[in-house]
Amino acid sequence: MRVIITPTETEASTLAARHIIDHATPGMKLGVATGSTPLGLYANLRTAHETGAFSLADSTAWALDEYVGIDENHPERYRNVLRDQLVGDDKTGLTDDNLHTPNPYGDDLDAAAAEYEAALSEGVDIQILGLGSDGHIGFNEPAGSLASPTHVETLTHETREANSRFFDNDIDKVPTHCITQGLATIMRASDIVLLAFGRGKARAVAQLIEGPVSAMWPATILQHHPSVMIIVDEEAASELTMIDYYRSREHV
Ligand code: GLP
Repeated sequence: MRVIITPTETEASTLAARHIIDHATPGMKLGVATGSTPLGLYANLRTAHETGAFSLADSTAWALDEYVGIDENHPERYRNVLRDQLVGDDKTGLTDDNLHTPNPYGDDLDAAAAEYEAALSEGVDIQILGLGSDGHIGFNEPAGSLASPTHVETLTHETREANSRFFDNDIDKVPTHCITQGLATIMRASDIVLLAFGRGKARAVAQLIEGPVSAMWPATILQHHPSVMIIVDEEAASELTMIDYYRSREHV
């Protein structure tokens, strides 16, 4: 697990984008996260596309999760968020057909989850991750299975409260359920880049890197993954015990 601490999220986003641009291969499968954390990274990818240094034109992108019960045209529907960030020649070259998101609109949500899981049986090439303040990745909430496939998840009160800022600050408008890639699905990615910013993520970051692997902090499963890069700002790094060691490792 590489741990990189940057002064602010601007440097972190640039570094993460650099990693993706450098490792992009034609036809790659890119795992994409939502939330506010990867927005700077996506802006960097759009800039690189503008200059001809990066393109997702032949690639596919795979969302981690999608809300259940959200209007198809709602701006916070994750498919719409990702369209806004990545789809089109004016963005990264990704086509709408090549953007994959779980389908929460059918009668059988379990079947939709199973279908998404099957499509990801070989895992993505590079997975971008954010981190919930309760340690969730995707929408895998605490006390779930560390080996879960794509599944229907009930959101915790903490997550709905955190995400209410996208829903007029009204928790009642935040969906209660979602379809999310499971931890086993995420673990099939060949390479993972996780970003976390701000004081509110510090406890989850400390658990993720230094805590015991536990279903109570779902992101800790990443300690078992052979290729993870964690990029955090100073505030998110503030509860790390071995912070000086991580800095020295990155200055070889
Ligand atoms: C959301 C998403 C996650 C995201 C996390 C953090 O609910 N499902 O993929 O990483 O919570 O969100 P943010 O980046 O806005 O802090």
